[in-house]
Amino acid sequence: MDKFTIQGNTKLTGQIKVSGSKNSALPIIISSLLTDEKCVIKNVPNLHDISSTIDILQYLGKKVEFKNNTITITKNGCCKTDIPYELVKKMRASFLSAGPLLARYKHATISLPGGCAIGIRPVDIHLKGFSKLGAKIKQKGGDILISAKKLKPAKIILGFPSVGASQNLLMCASLVEGKTILENIAREPEVDDLINCLNGMGAKISYQANKVIVEGVKKLSGINHTVIADRIETGTYLIAAACTKSTIEVINCEPENDEILIEYLQEAGFNVKCGKNSIKISPRTKNVKPVHIKTAPYPGFATDLQPLWMVLMSQAKGTCEVSEDIFENRFMHVAELVRMGANIHMEGKTASIMGGTSFTGANVMSSDLRGGACLVLAGLCASGETVVDRVYHIDRGYEQLEKKLAGLGAKIKRKKA
Ligand code: EPZ
Repeated sequence: MDKFTIQGNTKLTGQIKVSGSKNSALPIIISSLLTDEKCVIKNVPNLHDISSTIDILQYLGKKVEFKNNTITITKNGCCKTDIPYELVKKMRASFLSAGPLLARYKHATISLPGGCAIGIRPVDIHLKGFSKLGAKIKQKGGDILISAKKLKPAKIILGFPSVGASQNLLMCASLVEGKTILENIAREPEVDDLINCLNGMGAKISYQANKVIVEGVKKLSGINHTVIADRIETGTYLIAAACTKSTIEVINCEPENDEILIEYLQEAGFNVKCGKNSIKISPRTKNVKPVHIKTAPYPGFATDLQPLWMVLMSQAKGTCEVSEDIFENRFMHVAELVRMGANIHMEGKTASIMGGTSFTGANVMSSDLRGGACLVLAGLCASGETVVDRVYHIDRGYEQLEKKLAGLGAKIKRKKA
């Protein structure tokens, strides 16, 4: 397993370029199952999760080419409607294939995605929505069998604005004749990007106040779509600069998708200036100020940035609370941060962070994607050397993280296993 070795206490400087959004690219690539026509998707990051999605599409009967961050998908023979455990276990988001397969073939057999380090990750909201659309759901030997003689339009109120369930139901409903109303769906930019892509394919999806209306169509065409910038990668670099009291510019980003983080960084004592597709950050005050956060659905504070925010707050002058209200177990990184000197007290879903930490380098282990990224940030501001193990977690969501950070002057190297 690859590791990162990091020599800390180095200021960062210069520009760093953001890749396309992993969490937008995944559903958009899968939406190509809704059509037999050619789909060209640009600004796709070169990540393990993208390769896993390509494996699934090829298994299901698509021809997929991926080069220079562009994916070209065409039909290649008939389409399977089952996805085995071997493919699903590599990436939970493969469950997003259920909606398109159900819509086009009225049948999908997909292994239930297991949980992961951050939570059980159930799919009950997805399944309730499919049932409302007329599907029969059966569970057999770890697989979910979803089938329907005919799908019908419905009014679906999601019990929680689940990003994945919203995307699955939008893709399914886009081919269900009649008017489906989705209420309490997620408003993450990655959901909006999928809606824009589906409408580009001929879907009729519109917002009416806090509802989304889907007028089902008979057929969807191919698409030429460019994926939005990754707002979590953007936030990762902004917080990395804040942790190391550096001045950097993040480019190829979409500042409007990171508004609350920008506001909290300003509150914590940083100057943050936004251009159309760039963000410049620099220290404003001598000390980092403590800023409490609660993770929430968009436009609230992104749960994916919670571990990274903890690294910054560990250095603040004062105490603050970080409350994880989205996932039930997203604190696996805390024990590793404590080993590097952080002073964090856990109480249920709330972490109390006593600031003033000067991190010291250590051998640490990633437990999940964003937990791994937070250990890299702690290593950047620690004294001495940090070795981050199980970097494969980080490679799932960050394209060439070590090369991009080294481009800012960070002393970080990948040690191949
Ligand atoms: C997406 O996961 C992202 N992944 C996650 O990013 C992100 O943290 C999450 O949205 C929240 O923003 C991708 O887009 C591939 P949810 P998703 O369904 O869709 C519960 C990263 O680091 N829930 O909005 O799986 C669920 O257990 C990853 O890039 C149900 O109870 O998230 C969780 O507590 C991590 N039943 C909450 O909702 C359901 O049927 C949010 O989950 C579905 C979800």
